[in-house]
Amino acid sequence: MSQYLIEGGQKLRGEVTLQGAKNSVLPILAATLLNKGDTLLRRCPRLRDVDASMRILRHLGCTAEWKGEELEIRTGEISRAEITDELMREMRSSAIFLGAMLARCGEAKISYPGGCELGPRPIDLHLAGLRAMGAEIREEGGTLYCRAPRLRGADIVLALPSVGATENLMLAACGAEGVTKISNAAREPEIRDLQEFLVACGARVRGAGTSTVIVEGGEPLHGCTYTVMPDRIVAATYLSAVATAGGEAFLSGAREEHLLAVTAALRAAGCHIRGDERGISIRAEEPLRAVNMIRTAPYPGFPTDAQALVMAVLLRAEGVTVFEENIFENRYRHANEMMRMGAEIRIFGRVAVVTGVSALHGAAVQATDLRGGAALCVAGLAAEGQTQVTDSHHIDRGYEDLTRDLRALGAQIRYCPAD
Ligand code: EPZ
Repeated sequence: MSQYLIEGGQKLRGEVTLQGAKNSVLPILAATLLNKGDTLLRRCPRLRDVDASMRILRHLGCTAEWKGEELEIRTGEISRAEITDELMREMRSSAIFLGAMLARCGEAKISYPGGCELGPRPIDLHLAGLRAMGAEIREEGGTLYCRAPRLRGADIVLALPSVGATENLMLAACGAEGVTKISNAAREPEIRDLQEFLVACGARVRGAGTSTVIVEGGEPLHGCTYTVMPDRIVAATYLSAVATAGGEAFLSGAREEHLLAVTAALRAAGCHIRGDERGISIRAEEPLRAVNMIRTAPYPGFPTDAQALVMAVLLRAEGVTVFEENIFENRYRHANEMMRMGAEIRIFGRVAVVTGVSALHGAAVQATDLRGGAALCVAGLAAEGQTQVTDSHHIDRGYEDLTRDLRALGAQIRYCPAD
């Protein structure tokens, strides 16, 4: 089983350049289906989820190839409109292909995307919005049979600001006749990045980043060359690493405006953080202070993806921090593993109470999900002795090269592939 070995106790110092954003490039890869040209993606991260998306695109009849550091997608030919169960299971967010397939092919057959480590991952808001645009969707034996010979623009109000539903409906709306208005849309920066990609392909989309996104569908789209935004959660990971281990670093390419809730929490804990157009610099001395309360919420609230990462920082802070996880049902699985390292955490449903301890000790711990696994590596940087983080394949879904980046900051970490 592959694992990371981390020797804790080193202060960090250095500079790292941020990879492209996983949660931006995945919907962008689906969006390439909307045009019949060639797309070149720059700063596309080399991730397991990107590999899975490339396999789906190839299965549909497209080509997806790395050309040096750029990813070339050619979508002139589509030979099928169904994604196999095996391909759907490889990546939880493969439901994002549904809207684009309906817009391009007028039909789609996909299996219900499974839940994941974070709990059930329903797509009822995606399906309700697609039905409002005229799609006929039938669920039989875990497979969704979808037909949309003519998608038409609709006024859609999302019951909650779902990132995936907003993105799926934006893509379907590009292929619909007329105007689609998505109200209570998610406002994450990745939604704005998707809008900028679509506009670069000739689409008429506006409002991303606000609660109302408007798409004037029916425009013929073309390929483009596009640079993916930097990954703000990877930035949060490295900020947390320096915060907990102590030291100073510069994150080149990071945009503080995408992470204000996270940098506010780290500043409250006692970190010195400065953001400018080039990136984010952070300096952290011992000891950190607990942060009264951290509540996860849709953007621009505190991002659920950074919950485990900032929890790792506060395990040794002086005082008590109360976390409230309001987005996913089961997103504290990393807590038990942190307790094996000496952390004091009490879980009450959606609430986790973290009481700072003076020291953590290295231990053999298991990555439970993508960000929980990264958080265990962060905690290991501040623990005395060696921490082994097994099941590291979870981490590889979202981090292009965690070892390369943390070593650039002076961490003692190495990756041991499965034997
Ligand atoms: C995206 O997931 C991200 N994934 C997640 O990142 C992120 O945690 C999440 O947004 C929230 O910011 C990608 O972008 C690939 P949602 P998504 O739809 O789109 C409920 C990571 O670590 N819901 O905003 O699935 C849902 O159950 C991953 O990189 C419905 O009830 O998130 C959840 O409780 C983890 N019905 C809440 O909404 C629906 O139809 C937010 O989900 C859709 C969602």
